Amino acid sequence: MSQPQAFDPVASAYDTNFTHTQIGQYVRSIVQSRLTQHFTSGNHILELGCGTGEDALWLAEHGVHVTATDVSEGMLATTRAKCAGNPLVQVNPLDLRHLPTNVTASYDGVFSNFGPMNCLAEWRTLAAWLAQRVKKGGIVGLGVMSPFCLWEPLWHGVHGNWRTATRRWRKSIPFQPEGVSEPIQITYPAIKRITNDFTPHFQRVFVRGIGLFLPPSDVYGAVEKRPQLLKRLMSLEHRFASWPKLSLLADHYWIELERK
Ligand SMILES: C[S@@+](CC[C@H](N)C(=O)[O-])C[C@H]1O[C@@H](n2cnc3c(N)ncnc32)[C@H](O)[C@@H]1O
Repeated sequence: MSQPQAFDPVASAYDTNFTHTQIGQYVRSIVQSRLTQHFTSGNHILELGCGTGEDALWLAEHGVHVTATDVSEGMLATTRAKCAGNPLVQVNPLDLRHLPTNVTASYDGVFSNFGPMNCLAEWRTLAAWLAQRVKKGGIVGLGVMSPFCLWEPLWHGVHGNWRTATRRWRKSIPFQPEGVSEPIQITYPAIKRITNDFTPHFQRVFVRGIGLFLPPSDVYGAVEKRPQLLKRLMSLEHRFASWPKLSLLADHYWIELERK
């Protein structure tokens, strides 16, 4: 029996609290538009930290074969249920902190959306592991929580919650949902750090922000109940969030690295 994981208690409400929200759907659509730039029907793609399998299912519906992996049994169970009946999705446990040494597959590309990379303290080991499994020219796309999200100090600062307002400025912070005995450490790597750790095997080819004008998920409720504000923020997001120089100020940045 596997160890209980930090995201197990989050799994059952994850789609309600994030995936199916208006903002959650909007920001995911930005990532999915990037995925379609690189991953096409007939490709075999590895997903790291798949959560509830939303992107895996979406890619499979576009003819892409996805091996969807996560460390959390709760998340994997939801992915299996969501993708049941779709032969293009294979669901496997994989802990990014303990990567297996056997090389059993070669992938056309890899992606990891909305934060699994923030559960690691360094990315060099993962980059070397991926280098053995990604075809030359293949893309690794990573959605990473950024270290300077503008919304967080503004929103939580105004509400007097200084600890949350400044949490991304610390080296790492513990994440321990109720019912989990061991916290995991969350880090907020800069774009430069991810780029450097991947550089021995990969070259950065693209970066953009996701959630520059749209807030982090703990503020979705407050914004979604103001439809006019939400519409305005979505329009600003559409116009400006893709500017690479603003990436670090967004909730997440999306970075693409090409196998050399
Ligand atoms: C915020 S969720 C993102 C889920 C999904 N990618 C999405 O787009 O909604 C972060 C995911 O990373 C997974 N994760 C955290 N640490 C991990 C690790 N060491 N190895 C593999 N997955 C991990 C969690 O279980 C969780 O499903």
